[in-house]
Amino acid sequence: MAIRFLSCKCPYVLCFVFLVLSFLCKGQDSSFSSMKNKEKEVIYSVIQGLVGKWWNGSYLYPDPCGRTPIQGVSCEQYDDGFWYVTTVNFGPVFDNSLNCNHEAQFPQQLFNLKHLKVLSLSTCFLSPTKNPVKLPLSNWEKFSHSLESLTLRSNPGLVGTIPSAIGSLKKLQSLVLLENGLTGELPLSIGNLVKLRQLVLQGNNLEGQVPANYGWLSELLIFDASRNNLSGVLPSTLGLLDSLLKLDLSNNMLEGELPRELGRLKNLTLLDISHSKLRGGLVRTIKELVSLKHLVLSNNPIGGDLLGVKWENFQNIEALDLSNIGLEGSVPESMAKMKRLRFLDLSNNNLCGTLSRSLEKLPCLTALHVNGNNLTGRLEFSDRFYMKLGMRFAAWNNANLCCNIAKPQNEMPYGVKPCAQNITISEGVSNVKMSEGNYEDSFASLGGSGFYYGLWWVFTVNGVLNVLLWNMLF
Ligand SMILES: *[C@@H]1O[C@H](CO)[C@@H](O)[C@H](O)[C@H]1NC(C)=O
Ligand SMILES: *[C@@H]1O[C@H](CO)[C@@H](O)[C@H](O)[C@H]1NC(C)=O
Ligand SMILES: *[C@@H]1O[C@H](CO)[C@@H](O)[C@H](O)[C@H]1NC(C)=O
Ligand SMILES: *[C@@H]1O[C@H](CO)[C@@H](O)[C@H](O)[C@H]1NC(C)=O
Ligand SMILES: *[C@@H]1O[C@H](CO)[C@@H](O)[C@H](O)[C@H]1NC(C)=O
Repeated sequence: MAIRFLSCKCPYVLCFVFLVLSFLCKGQDSSFSSMKNKEKEVIYSVIQGLVGKWWNGSYLYPDPCGRTPIQGVSCEQYDDGFWYVTTVNFGPVFDNSLNCNHEAQFPQQLFNLKHLKVLSLSTCFLSPTKNPVKLPLSNWEKFSHSLESLTLRSNPGLVGTIPSAIGSLKKLQSLVLLENGLTGELPLSIGNLVKLRQLVLQGNNLEGQVPANYGWLSELLIFDASRNNLSGVLPSTLGLLDSLLKLDLSNNMLEGELPRELGRLKNLTLLDISHSKLRGGLVRTIKELVSLKHLVLSNNPIGGDLLGVKWENFQNIEALDLSNIGLEGSVPESMAKMKRLRFLDLSNNNLCGTLSRSLEKLPCLTALHVNGNNLTGRLEFSDRFYMKLGMRFAAWNNANLCCNIAKPQNEMPYGVKPCAQNITISEGVSNVKMSEGNYEDSFASLGGSGFYYGLWWVFTVNGVLNVLLWNMLF
């Protein structure tokens, strides 16, 4: 009715009066958003528990869900007419964010916020020696019908195990336990969280095997348990994670062979299992992984050679990192058939033979690392190729490799000597500018697998937002 009134061609004065009135009326109705006192006390005491007793919430923020919002706390109105806290996001995100003090504990009072959907505590528990904080073992079931996102990030003082009771959070879509001091094994109960879309356990001291029942997480998009101390063989059930886009288990102690079932995951875009103890030979390891865009297997004792792989099947691959995996034999010309390849790292293996000029035909290639092998003979690439790649062409530490062009030192591929009888290829007159500013290709500029450590971030910036977006899409 109000809308109709406004949209009619009423005289402006009347409209203005109406607006003022409605504003005043509204102001009068809810000078305080109606919130149960108990809910207020709970949020005050939660925050006091984190920042210290000096924080006088009732004085500073008499209307936390209304006119005096607390940074990082948000509320929603429920059917009973009352407002409830739905988000607690604590951490140095904004200039005026509240900070945890050095005695902060995990606030048990949180469990009384019965409509809490999002809980995030970052950079809060800082010292594992002076103030070690453990996650509560029980009470999580109180959140079982509300909590959708749990983030505990950059809390080196958060120690102990991941409580099994986390498995009662039936509505959880995002579980991010990133860069804390958590130890112990991955709880089996996480396998019950069938709504999970994001599971990030990166950068703790977790050990033991990846439980087979994690394969039940059929909505999982991101699984990142990198930089822990996980061991054993990966379960073949990971091949049931149909929705998976990204799997990062790098920097662990994983053994055995990569399960061939991973080849089933047609939506998997990124697979990073670098810095572990995988074996089994390259051919067998990557045969099935033809739909990937980014594959990082560096620093594993995988062994084998490049010859037995049908490279022409890898039509999606953009970044392939096979450095330091014990490869032998030569570099086949068929590698030039991966038409989307931008980044190829074969460094620090035991590759021999010559490097075929055909790699130059890869239209997108902006980085090629073959340094630290036993390649021999003459590099036959054109001037243009060296100019395009610049320092992203790495061929040093191949004792018997030489370069076909003779140029001033600073225009030669770094660390490669000119061949005794050199031939300068004249076609290489090109306009490609080789300035530092040309590093638009992130794979190339960051190089090496170090870059991938941060990749989960690409997917989880605004983690919750992402999850919500996915919700809207599907
Ligand atoms: C908080 O402030 C109110 C109003 O000034 C005061 O009555 C109350 O005692 C204070 N509480 C604490 C714990 O300081
Ligand atoms: C990793 O786990 C192994 C046992 O699987 C253990 O011997 C080793 O000390 C652990 N390393 C670290 C850094 O915790
Ligand atoms: C794979 O991704 C496409 C869209 O990119 C989506 O339609 C499809 O449902 C996904 N498959 C699975 C099993 O999630
Ligand atoms: C490098 O290759 C040559 C033959 O091309 C071989 O004689 C030599 O042993 C190889 N070096 C290593 C370290 O494998
Ligand atoms: C390479 O060729 C150039 C002429 O193009 C010649 O000046 C130079 O001495 C040669 N370098 C070697 C090491 O033979």
